[in-house]
Amino acid sequence: MASEAAMPTPQGRVVLVTGAGAGMGRAFAHRFARAGDRMAVFELDHEAADSVSREVRALGAEALPLVGDVADEARVASAFDEVIRQWGRIDVLINNAGIACSVPTCELTAQAWQRTLDINQTGVFLFSRELARRHQHGDAVIVNVVSMYGEVAAPERLAYCASKSAVAMMTRVLAIEWASRGIRVNGIAPGYIETPFLEALADDGRVDLERIRARTPQRRLGTAEEMADLVFFIASPETGFMTGQVVTSDGGWTAYGYY
Ligand SMILES: NC(=O)c1ccc[n+]([C@@H]2O[C@H](COP(=O)([O-])OP(=O)(O)OC[C@H]3O[C@@H](n4cnc5c(N)ncnc54)[C@H](O)[C@@H]3O)[C@@H](O)[C@H]2O)c1
Repeated sequence: MASEAAMPTPQGRVVLVTGAGAGMGRAFAHRFARAGDRMAVFELDHEAADSVSREVRALGAEALPLVGDVADEARVASAFDEVIRQWGRIDVLINNAGIACSVPTCELTAQAWQRTLDINQTGVFLFSRELARRHQHGDAVIVNVVSMYGEVAAPERLAYCASKSAVAMMTRVLAIEWASRGIRVNGIAPGYIETPFLEALADDGRVDLERIRARTPQRRLGTAEEMADLVFFIASPETGFMTGQVVTSDGGWTAYGYY
């Protein structure tokens, strides 16, 4: 049976989402807010943190905007201090912040390689470690936003694929390390999802959305709201026996092996 802390409470769970200012992170904040959960909105962009926090409040939930970089160790610790000062605990952590890195490998600079790993991988480590260090009792849930490109390969995406593949493994390592402490660790592996991240890649000519739709068995992109419903379910007590799993949601992309 799931313990009290993972169950919806009259005050709502305390949920921290990284990169919550746009795209999927914003949809996650909305989804949990609609269920009455309290939202810590961690985001690099100051205005985005404030505007998503206002949206959360408009949905009737409490919000705490937190501006920072997921790769900044000191800021991660101080953000947890702020959330715990405000609400006393964190029940759900969604490691969502991530950046694209789309460049032929011979032109990939060491700096761009490092920045991609810092945000996509080290950020997940820092936030997860902080949650576990502060976790005292009850259940807690971590959901990592990985990518189908943590499993299948794409050319000219070396740093991105490497970082996402690492997060898929980190999901399994942390799940088994912390299972006995009541911390579940799972992930989602989205395919192509309609967000500002994908729009920016399309605008730069790095992806061709028509070809992506044609290659996807469902013939469409996914939506941030679909990913939000999946993350909400994974964070719920209904999945209490599930840990160390990365669930793919890609319209059939990775299953497709025909010509
Ligand atoms: N969109 C897709 O097709 C797709 C597919 C698979 C996986 N993903 C992954 O999903 C996650 C979210 O993607 P999205 O499409 O919603 O992206 P997005 O660019 O639309 O939104 C990401 C948000 O994260 C914030 N952010 C970026 N770097 C940050 C940092 N260092 N610290 C704090 N916040 C930071 C951005 O300001 C932005 O608000 C990423 O990890 C991405 O790799 C996206």
